[in-house]
Amino acid sequence: MKRTLRNLIIGILGGFCMLMLLSFAASQDQKTGAPWVVPAKYKAMKNPQKGDPAALNTGKMLYTKHCKSCHGGSGAGDGPKANSMKTKVNSFKDSKFQAQNDGDLYFESFVGRDEMPNFEKKILDDEERWAIVSFIRTLK
Ligand code: HEC
Repeated sequence: MKRTLRNLIIGILGGFCMLMLLSFAASQDQKTGAPWVVPAKYKAMKNPQKGDPAALNTGKMLYTKHCKSCHGGSGAGDGPKANSMKTKVNSFKDSKFQAQNDGDLYFESFVGRDEMPNFEKKILDDEERWAIVSFIRTLK
């Protein structure tokens, strides 16, 4: 009788460990997002504030408020919410990311898709939007 009880306990503990391992594996299983398809209208956009240092402060403040929780303070894609996303949050330091046009960044940042939220209603001012793009450019 004692033996069966012990085996039962070992069985339950073993099963529990398996479950923990499986859920850990599942939480690590983030898919990488497909390449972004940016409409021509956005692609052609140019940042009117390029090189304006005053815009960077505004950009940093807005980034900290709206973006840092997922993208991380240094843009490495390691904000506290990043791990709970199904899609990997890429690093803004990546040279492939920085090689994109200003207009690509604008579209991805404010129109978004899937788990990347749409910010068109939250950040209305176009100058504020470009300030965020300018700030992201400094994160490389
Ligand atoms: C709730 C979490 C979350 C917040 C908040 C968030 N993002 Fe994202 N972002 C994501 C995820 C997830 C992706 C990847 C989505 C995909 O590939 O489908 C992403 C992708 C992006 C990309 C494209 C990256 C690439 O690899 O090309 C840009 C640019 C971006 N976000 C900018 C921003 C900006 C700017 C803000 C703030 C205004 C912001 N994000 C706020 C989760 C977030």
